[in-house]
Parts: sequence; structure tokens; C-alpha cells
Amino acid sequence: MSVTVRVPAKVNVQLAVGGVRDDGYHDLANVFLAVGLYDEITVTPAESLTVTCTGPGADQVPLDRTNLAARAAELLAARYGIDPAVHVHIDKDIPVAGGMAGGSADGAGALLACDALWSTGASREELLGICAELGSDVPFSLVGGAALGTGRGERLTELPVGGAFHWVFAVAEGGLSTPAVYREFDRLNEGVDVPVPVASPLLLDALRTGDAGALAGALVNDLQPAALSLRPSLADTLRTGTDAGALAALVSGSGPTTAFLAKDAESAARISEVLIASSTCRTARVAEAPARGATIL
Ligand code: C5P
Repeated sequence: MSVTVRVPAKVNVQLAVGGVRDDGYHDLANVFLAVGLYDEITVTPAESLTVTCTGPGADQVPLDRTNLAARAAELLAARYGIDPAVHVHIDKDIPVAGGMAGGSADGAGALLACDALWSTGASREELLGICAELGSDVPFSLVGGAALGTGRGERLTELPVGGAFHWVFAVAEGGLSTPAVYREFDRLNEGVDVPVPVASPLLLDALRTGDAGALAGALVNDLQPAALSLRPSLADTLRTGTDAGALAALVSGSGPTTAFLAKDAESAARISEVLIASSTCRTARVAEAPARGATIL
């Protein structure tokens, strides 16, 4: 018997970053939007905990206990006194190390799959708590749709979304380390009185009404200057997508994936073609939002 869970990628439509806290994390107002690119995580009883991964970029995914999917299985098993003897298979379609929460998706997916396999009876709150232990973005991978994350991003309030948004994602060569991007944010803001991060009412309105033009005007990522500072070539990618007709462009999370909001599916396809033909990214993908959170198939 095995259980398969499908989990979406995300884009941060607003990532407002506050000053660094005593625990090294940053307070955030993080508006997550789940997008229709998915990893599928399958868990099957086995002799011991093992992880395999297939799909684009699979060779860059760690298969040891640092993989969030393995850690999710271990945490849940420890909580319920179960032997975490499962084989976790990740069928990867979310760009790896890209700022699209692929690792977080695998953590949330493995957690939900193991929970179903072991019939733990854990409540949704308990599962969200384990997600928060796994990482700041993991609870959102479970929830999907759209949500505001506060604290270090793990405390979620779900948000209404009034329509479909069309996105293009340009996948960069190589990755960017999230801690390094936050460190660069701190360096760039040294001596600056960083304001308390708050969600933009304009942006929340744009999501609620499904208005792509309004959303385009409200997109903001406070980590973008830091990501661009570490990877200046991302500016060329942003310009290429904007010149191809994107309503707006921004770095996705801590990057290096860049995100382009399009006015409709046709425009998204065109932007994607132009990006793929340019030498400014490795590949590009189109995806619709919002997408459902982690779902048992
Ligand atoms: O929580 P997670 O392990 O996903 O975070 C990865 C890294 O990103 C942290 O170690 C920290 O350097 C940075 N981070 C941060 N503030 C946040 C979230 C993440 O500084 N709110």
C-alpha cells in the first residue's frame, strides 16, 4: 500500500522583510500564492527510511536526512512513537533551489502522506505545527491557495482570491542560498531603520477581486535588491520578460527564479517563449494560480 500527495509551488506576491530578530530570523509580512506546478510525493512501507527523487534537477536534491521529506517522516514518527520505515519517492516538477518552495512542498507532502499511511489521527493544527518546525514556508505548502504569513512566515491567515492569475517563471542556472540572501539583505540595510513589515491593503484587494493589473502594481519583494546584488544577471531576465509584455516582474522569494505576471494565458505563453529563446535563463514555465494545497491523490 502507498499514499501519493500532490503539492504546489508558490510565489510570494508580497515579501515585506523586517529587521533581523534575536533568533536570526526576520519578521515578515509574506503573502503567498500557490501556483500550479507540482511535486508528487509517494510513501510506501519499507525496511528503513529512504528517499529517491526523479524529474528535472533531481540530481541536485539531497537524498539524506537533510531532505525535508525525510525530516517530516521522522518528526511525525517520533511524535507518535512509530518506526519511520518508509520509502519516500519525490516526483519533482517544481524548479529545484529556486525560491519556489520546492523543498518545503516535499516536506508538507511527505508529512501528509505519512500521516495518511500511518493513520495517526493528527489534527490539522498539529500537522501545521510540525510544518512550522520543518521550515518557515512549509505550513503554506500544506494550506495552498493564498495566505498571509507573519512571524517568520509560518503563522498563516488564509486569503480570498477572486480569479485566476497567469504566471511565467524563468528558471535560472544554479541556485541561491536563502540564508545568504537574507544576510545580503542585512548587509544592504546596515544602519537603516527597517520598518515593521505589513501586508499591503492594495495587494490584498487585488487578490480578492482577481484583478491582474492591480496585482501587478502592488507586487513587491524586499529580498529582490539582495538577490540582484548576489546575482546581477537576474536584471536581464526581469527586463526580457517585461519587454515581452509581462504586466510586472519580480524575483520569486529569495530567488533565483524570476516571476512574471501576464494578463492572460496567451500572453503568458508568449512571454515564456521569449524567455526560453533568450539566453537569460535556463528555461521557463507557465502556471496558473491559485492552486490547491497538499492533496492526497
Ligand atoms: O525557516 P527556513 O529554514 O526555511 O529558513 C531558511 C533560512 O532563511 C533561515 O535559516 C534564515 O537564514 C532565513 N530566514 C530568515 N527569516 C525568515 C525566514 C527565513 O532570516 N523569516
